[in-house]
Amino acid sequence: MGSAGEYRFFDLTHSSADMHEEVIAGLTHAPKFIAPKYFYDERGSALFEAITRQPEYYLTRIEMGLFEDCLPEVRNLVGEGGCLVEYGSGSSRKIRRLLEMLRPIAHLPLDISRRHLERTAKKLHEDYPQLCVYPVCVDITEAFELPDVVAGQRKLGFFPGSSIGNMEPEHIPSFLRQAAKALGAGGRFLIGVDRKKNVEVLEAAYNDSAGLTAEFNLNILSHLNARLSADFDPGAFRHLAAYNRCAGSVQMHLESLADQSLHIDGHEIQLHRGEAIHTENSYKYDYAEFVALAERGGFRVESSWSDDDAYFTIFLLRAP
Ligand code: AVI
Repeated sequence: MGSAGEYRFFDLTHSSADMHEEVIAGLTHAPKFIAPKYFYDERGSALFEAITRQPEYYLTRIEMGLFEDCLPEVRNLVGEGGCLVEYGSGSSRKIRRLLEMLRPIAHLPLDISRRHLERTAKKLHEDYPQLCVYPVCVDITEAFELPDVVAGQRKLGFFPGSSIGNMEPEHIPSFLRQAAKALGAGGRFLIGVDRKKNVEVLEAAYNDSAGLTAEFNLNILSHLNARLSADFDPGAFRHLAAYNRCAGSVQMHLESLADQSLHIDGHEIQLHRGEAIHTENSYKYDYAEFVALAERGGFRVESSWSDDDAYFTIFLLRAP
């Protein structure tokens, strides 16, 4: 561990050649898809932050309320000091509350969006000068090792906002096993999980009346244009979000408004009118469903907090 207040940036991302291959593979697949991690360029991260303030997007509001209930207990269980590992550096409001309550020695925000990560991590370092801040630019859905600088430190993982809901359920146990290894024996993981509920409430959250979720969804195309010299016309698509009861997820798509061809570095991709590109699944879980996934991932539930309507649950998991 370095001296108090140290700042070091770690880059564990792959080259844009990998992104290129992955995007072409998705757009030549039937049905077409783009991985949701590509939402998060600088603008996408800012749009997501704005979505969390929309009245229809209940997730953040309820989770923030639950936080106030759970943090004293989390502090009693976890203690002060140690190292906070934030999976996806999305929410500065939540992390600041946690930093103030738990007073860790080091904070490791992990995020795929380099500029967003750098900006938020530098700001945290300015505001908490005693804290070591080690941002790690990484795709958290892939296997990776935490930097050695925090080896041997007690760790608390933090994965708020139901971002775990953007992973496919069958990938969650292996993701959790990987996290359990990174957090070490006895390591804890605080995870926010959105629950199954009334379809109208779910669909309104992903079709906000200000149109921010639509902008967020369409921005994925502008991000690909900038990163891969593609020629998507975002105006030629429309945002769709609907709950699929069988899958247990809100599914987002971009529907093509016309027959069109688009190009990514020499590859031509044809889309016909009405064809949809799948961009995101946002899975919702019953309490017992998530407990079963956590246990398959090698964790046990140490504690949990839910609101009275059972819209959202924060789980504190513990590795053996
Ligand atoms: C980041 N994640 C938890 C959000 C969600 O609710 O699935 C992303 C999002 N997509 C549309 N609105 C928000």
